[in-house]
Amino acid sequence: MKLLEDKILNESVVLNDEILKVDGFINHQVDPKLMKEIGEEFAEYFKDRGITKVATIESSGISPALMTALALGVPLIIMKKSPSNVMKTDLFHTEVVSFTKGSSYELTVSKSHISENDHVLIIDDFLANGEASTGAIRLVRKGNATIAGVGILIEKSFQAGRNKLNEAMIEVYSLARIESLKGGIIQFKKQEN
Ligand code: G4P
Ligand code: NA
Ligand code: NA
Repeated sequence: MKLLEDKILNESVVLNDEILKVDGFINHQVDPKLMKEIGEEFAEYFKDRGITKVATIESSGISPALMTALALGVPLIIMKKSPSNVMKTDLFHTEVVSFTKGSSYELTVSKSHISENDHVLIIDDFLANGEASTGAIRLVRKGNATIAGVGILIEKSFQAGRNKLNEAMIEVYSLARIESLKGGIIQFKKQEN
């Protein structure tokens, strides 16, 4: 998506060979017009898949996921990293390990909003090692729902996530695919699919 690639080139900061800072339009400050365009792009791409719900992980996935859900005309489900202690039995749980952060957390989702009739599109801001996405997929499957695909804003193609999802036969649509951040230079992957 040219709009997102341009935004990345003009407004992001390469922190090191692995991390791109996008605080000005995704993580801390959010660009609503960009999110609207992103939502419409995902909705257009996935429109014929019979999607009944969009799901994301708090917090940075919420903005693009909400706009996608709006464009598809379906509800948004928010998966949480720190559940309240009340009514834990009403939640599906799974452990997610973050290599970027060197820590792990318990990802949860309410049992009430996922059923076997659901076909779920997962949206997230970054795809790095794919641990968050695969955790979200496990939670959807605990509810006996099916996965329509995964939509990502920024895929770091040099990390393992994309291959992990491909091997699991999950379709991934990434709006920007970064091949390398080496030497502070942002190189996008040549589009071959
Ligand atoms: P993985 O799910 O693909 O394995 O990714 P990982 O655990 O490594 O990512 C942990 C957190 O770091 C996630 O945010 C993810 O969005 C973020 N992240 C990963 N790579 C980058 C990067 O290059 N730049 C930026 N800005 N963030 C990155 P989170 O902890 O879930 O936080 P939130 O922002 O959603 O609240
Ligand atoms: Na995220
Ligand atoms: Na993030």
